[in-house]
Amino acid sequence: MSGDSRGSWSGQVGFVLAAAGSAIGLGNIWRFPFATSQNGGGAFVLVYIAAVVLVGMPILISEVLIGRSTARNPVGAFRALAPGSAWPVVGMLGVVAGFVILSYYAVVAGWAFHYLFAAAAGRLTAPTTEGAQRVFDSLTGDLGRQVFWEAVFMATTIAVVARGIEAGIERASKILMPLLFAFLLVLLGYALTSPGAGEGLAFFLTPRFGDLGWAGVLAALGQAFFSLSLGMGAMITYGSYLEQEHSVVKAAGLIVAMDTAIAILAGLVIFPLVFTYGLDPSAAGPGLVFVILPEAFIRMPASSMLATLFFALLLFAALTSAISLLEVVVAYLVDQFGWTRARASWSAGIVIFALGVPSAVSSGFLGWADWIASEVMLPIGGFLIAVFVAWVLPLSTVRSQYEGASGVRGGFRAWRFCVRFVAPVAVAVILLQKVGLF
Ligand code: TRP
Repeated sequence: MSGDSRGSWSGQVGFVLAAAGSAIGLGNIWRFPFATSQNGGGAFVLVYIAAVVLVGMPILISEVLIGRSTARNPVGAFRALAPGSAWPVVGMLGVVAGFVILSYYAVVAGWAFHYLFAAAAGRLTAPTTEGAQRVFDSLTGDLGRQVFWEAVFMATTIAVVARGIEAGIERASKILMPLLFAFLLVLLGYALTSPGAGEGLAFFLTPRFGDLGWAGVLAALGQAFFSLSLGMGAMITYGSYLEQEHSVVKAAGLIVAMDTAIAILAGLVIFPLVFTYGLDPSAAGPGLVFVILPEAFIRMPASSMLATLFFALLLFAALTSAISLLEVVVAYLVDQFGWTRARASWSAGIVIFALGVPSAVSSGFLGWADWIASEVMLPIGGFLIAVFVAWVLPLSTVRSQYEGASGVRGGFRAWRFCVRFVAPVAVAVILLQKVGLF
């Protein structure tokens, strides 16, 4: 039962939108394109999609089941389902991952904030790609400016989370996600008619397995976890506010479809433009979209207005994701220590802000934090969540939770096969390969 004092979603649509809001964020628009460009283009995309379907979706369902059946934060959920065991440590790992991910996420979102204000003030006018690159480099070399926007972004995130589930998180998601999608479609039209379209699509979609390697396979798996917000209990937490009458499978299918569509859409927009402006895609790292998109906007009519609108939407996508990261930590503090939402939000948020400062100081540190989180912590967390649901929880509990009160049990056997065998084995093999054990 979802306790009334914890709050809950207004219904299935509210849950799907909020969870999609968590999933869709900088991971789709900032991270997916540069990860693709560094790891063999189409080969990365193929492995990514396989990882989403065979590992991501099954684990997403598992997380929602754990959350909904207990109506608890990740630590409390494991405590309720496996009392006296070591499993709550998985929830703790998730809370720690929340601190790590949000710390650098807020720095990157701060970049988007900077671009938003630069665009609104009409200052986003770099005539050449080197110029756009210089604008980005001067931002990442300016500690004060980055920390300022990081602080603005964290304060916004904290303010929303402190207001509670329905009032803040859900309302924002409902309006802004569809707008972002529409805007990307407009950009798609522009990108596909630009001179580099053919080359860009070839780069994005032609598999070059030679450039992938095991490191690239792990990167694709990590990207799947990161983009779907899996492996650290965010979806356990969101599932904990979901009521029994809704179908978990349908919701998960929708969330995965929307998240993947936005990532692919981002790739279809970015890569044609990369080739149109003569950038080297495999050399461009985390600056990729921040260099390419301003460059594209400058050439469009009403460029300042379009750029302003785009960065505003990107920021809202980042915000609905950041909210879910902070929510994991806050739900833990509220449930386990009885803190008020406001107290938990502000204390955790301020600590996370401070943890983000090193990522503003050094992009190497940012890359390292991103790597530890997405390629180490999330896959390990996801592996343990799959093992828990598939091998530890009694089958009868799992079956009745899968169905809930919705009566929808389609795909149960395929799902169970994936969480029992496919997902844990795939994650374990990929992690061990990377460590060099085979
Ligand atoms: N999925 C979000 C994105 O793509 C980021 C995110 C939000 C996340 N919550 C998460 C990543 C939990 C991992 C775990 O931008």
